[in-house]
Amino acid sequence: PEKSTVTVTVNGVEIEAQPGELLIAAAERHGTYIPRFCYHPRMKPVGMCRMCIVDIDTGRGPALQPACMIQVAADMKVDTKSAATKKAQDGVLEFLLINHPLDCPVCDKGGECPLQDQTFAYGPGETRFVEEKRHWEKPIALSALVHIDRERCIQCDRCTRFADEIAGDRLIEFVGRGSHIEVNTFPDQPFSSYFSGNTVQICPVGALLAQPYRFKARPWDLEQVESTCTQCAVGCRIAVQSSQDRLTRYIGLDSDPVNHGWLCDKGRFSYEAVNSAERLGRPLVKKVDELVDASWADALDAAALGLSDAKTAYGPGAVAVIGGARLPNEDQYAWAKLAKSVLGTDNVDAQLGDGLPAELVLGLPRATIDDACRASAVILLGPDIKEELPVLYLRLRGAALNEGLRIVEVTPRRTGLTPYAAEVVPYLPGEALAAARRLVDGDLAGTLGDSPVVIAGRPSVAEPASSVVAAAAALAGLPGVRFLSALRRGNVHGALDMGLAPGVLPGRVGLDDGRSWFVDAWGAAPEARGLDTDGILRAAADGRIHGLVLLGADPLSDFPDRELARRALDRASFVVAIDCFLTDSVRKADVVLPAATFAERAGTTTNLEGRVTRLSPKVTAPEVAWPDWMIAAELAARLGGDLGFTTLDSVWEEIGRVAPSHAGITRSVLAERRFRDGVVAPLGSVEPGASRAVDASADPMSTPGIIHAEIQGETVLEGETSDSPEGIGRKDGDMSPDSRPEPPLLVWDRAVEAPREFKPDSYALRLVSGRKLYDAGVTVRMSPSLAPLAAEPVLCVNPLDLDRLGVKSGGTIRLRSNRLTTTLTVEADPHQPRGSASLPFNLPGIDTAALIDVDAPANEFAIETP
Ligand code: SF4
Ligand code: SF4
Ligand code: FES
Repeated sequence: PEKSTVTVTVNGVEIEAQPGELLIAAAERHGTYIPRFCYHPRMKPVGMCRMCIVDIDTGRGPALQPACMIQVAADMKVDTKSAATKKAQDGVLEFLLINHPLDCPVCDKGGECPLQDQTFAYGPGETRFVEEKRHWEKPIALSALVHIDRERCIQCDRCTRFADEIAGDRLIEFVGRGSHIEVNTFPDQPFSSYFSGNTVQICPVGALLAQPYRFKARPWDLEQVESTCTQCAVGCRIAVQSSQDRLTRYIGLDSDPVNHGWLCDKGRFSYEAVNSAERLGRPLVKKVDELVDASWADALDAAALGLSDAKTAYGPGAVAVIGGARLPNEDQYAWAKLAKSVLGTDNVDAQLGDGLPAELVLGLPRATIDDACRASAVILLGPDIKEELPVLYLRLRGAALNEGLRIVEVTPRRTGLTPYAAEVVPYLPGEALAAARRLVDGDLAGTLGDSPVVIAGRPSVAEPASSVVAAAAALAGLPGVRFLSALRRGNVHGALDMGLAPGVLPGRVGLDDGRSWFVDAWGAAPEARGLDTDGILRAAADGRIHGLVLLGADPLSDFPDRELARRALDRASFVVAIDCFLTDSVRKADVVLPAATFAERAGTTTNLEGRVTRLSPKVTAPEVAWPDWMIAAELAARLGGDLGFTTLDSVWEEIGRVAPSHAGITRSVLAERRFRDGVVAPLGSVEPGASRAVDASADPMSTPGIIHAEIQGETVLEGETSDSPEGIGRKDGDMSPDSRPEPPLLVWDRAVEAPREFKPDSYALRLVSGRKLYDAGVTVRMSPSLAPLAAEPVLCVNPLDLDRLGVKSGGTIRLRSNRLTTTLTVEADPHQPRGSASLPFNLPGIDTAALIDVDAPANEFAIETP
């Protein structure tokens, strides 16, 4: 019979390995570490450094061979400690150190350097080389973020392979021969990759240096905790490091279902914004047009008075909350409870007009990132993933190149994934539905297979959500289809799960289905569906919102329609802002409450798969800033309510009790080592509406669905058991204390309204607008290393449309719409559908939001020679 494993003897002990597994990996899994420099488990082996040479006997006698290049074979005998192996290791290290400078005391890598460590562990102890070492100018900049000290490079090829294989940015290469070999860029082409920081992390010596970290700390000063990056919705696992109560570095952790150890540079260096001297540390209250310092007591009194006056005089519908995607889950729940029970309003929205309705995101059959990578096809109906969800881009690119994933893009412009797409279905803004129908009803449908995954988000903020919703509804009819959300904001998925959206309540339940359950739990719940951000801003602009809460929201820079946001904030009679920075919108507030942010407090966050992971505190918040849940609890008390929370744990405990999608995801489950990569909610199923209960008596290792997927490959550590300390999940038919059945999870009703008809102007261009990774948003602006990376705005136009005007690519045009006239550089892009043009949203130097009317089915403008 065919054996599914291969038996190999390592140092006299028999081990079981997977067929095709590299010897270096199989030995490590069984506790034998073979030293290495060039081998990296997430990249193809190259056998460059020879550090992993060991004695291998495949039946023809022992021979020295590199363990990173040899696959296990039946009856292979390996000796990692033989005299020959030891001699080879001595030799390799002696050679590597011929030219390596001995500047460890001033090298950033000193103390955490594989070359240092392996020289101590496996090296010869002395060298026979007395010659002068080679010298290079040091360090030189490969890019604004990454510098190189070429003298320290051991030519392991990790950085260059990463840039080429994983990031797809082949911008660094080996140059020269022999002892003149160096890693460098091509002439005049900086290493401007969104993923450059990963090369610094995987460089086994101090050759590659992150400019923001150079000389900032030594490894022995650093403290660290595990956490999750919340700069976008991918939710990469990270180690957060600090020195002297200041954040100094984030390191990517290898989460198998999510980030594979990689981070994007925005996430990696965003700690600078947390450290920013511009952080708000004290409450402010407006006195005669000026925000002045106030005590917490006075500021909370003023906030509560303004909101209760609005509610008393005009009813709960005159109160609204915008924002909340920045917050951890617990704080989102506390704010949802404050808004929907104490204030009594359903005018609550964590998305700022750039997302999709909560019912769609929560109520469609869901897929994980792994599901998408293994799908029969991925249909992208969303933003440029490389710009907005960068590590998801790495995962999809890798799956397309290495695992044959078929990507079909339905897009109004070229994106970072276009070069890897098997098919592109281009469309003009406003016509997403027609494009989706062409895909579903046309020849391509047959190529999508039986398990396609749609990655759904907003391809352009200049195209109304209704157009994308209609297209998503058409795609939802594909057999076997599942959806992965491409909403970008940090914890927007937590916000939707916790009820920070109109028409939903915590735990992925609809307002009508869940009202009586939440009246039981909270004492009150909204009577009717409220407004989304668009509706709230419109009502505010019409003078119908008298109490507005901005919960980490800056509509003046983030909402797609600048004019509407401006009118709304000018007209809203009372505004409370809870924020970390004094943004343009926060300056308009009557009361400003300073919030503690990432790495300053504990909590949990939820990524785009619905994966809940833990956030850990590491540093102290500035001055007297508070976590958002505490602000909610204090405000509630002043508004005559009681949220019932005294600790963060008490909030999570209530979420587990009342939010149906989160049943069983207890603090202790999240703390278990085998759930280190988080837990996808709801437990046991990703089908909306399906039973999510897991038999508590069963071994959780063998439960179906998500839990099983989560723990694959996890080694249960000594001292831990494979059994859960408690039952996971409530059983079907669980009842609240008064025996009321739990409300059902949302299922999206695909019967959507047809998008509005509109008559295009055949002389105009339709605007397509999406975000860039480095933009004029607050994180980038407040991170000194990232702010200069925001690109110049360029309008991309089809060359045929440019020819009509006689303008060349790189030239200047005048853009004219009924809202804005400006001059801009243009670039010819043959992928831009004719009749449309693409301009990034929220870049310094261009007011794209001033062009956008969110009411229009498409935003048209003319271009002309200036
Ligand atoms: Fe390896 Fe670092 Fe040299 Fe790149 S710079 S080849 S990662 S030693
Ligand atoms: Fe952070 Fe997103 Fe970048 Fe990952 S992809 S490091 S979650 S910003
Ligand atoms: Fe095997 Fe470098 S680790 S040759």
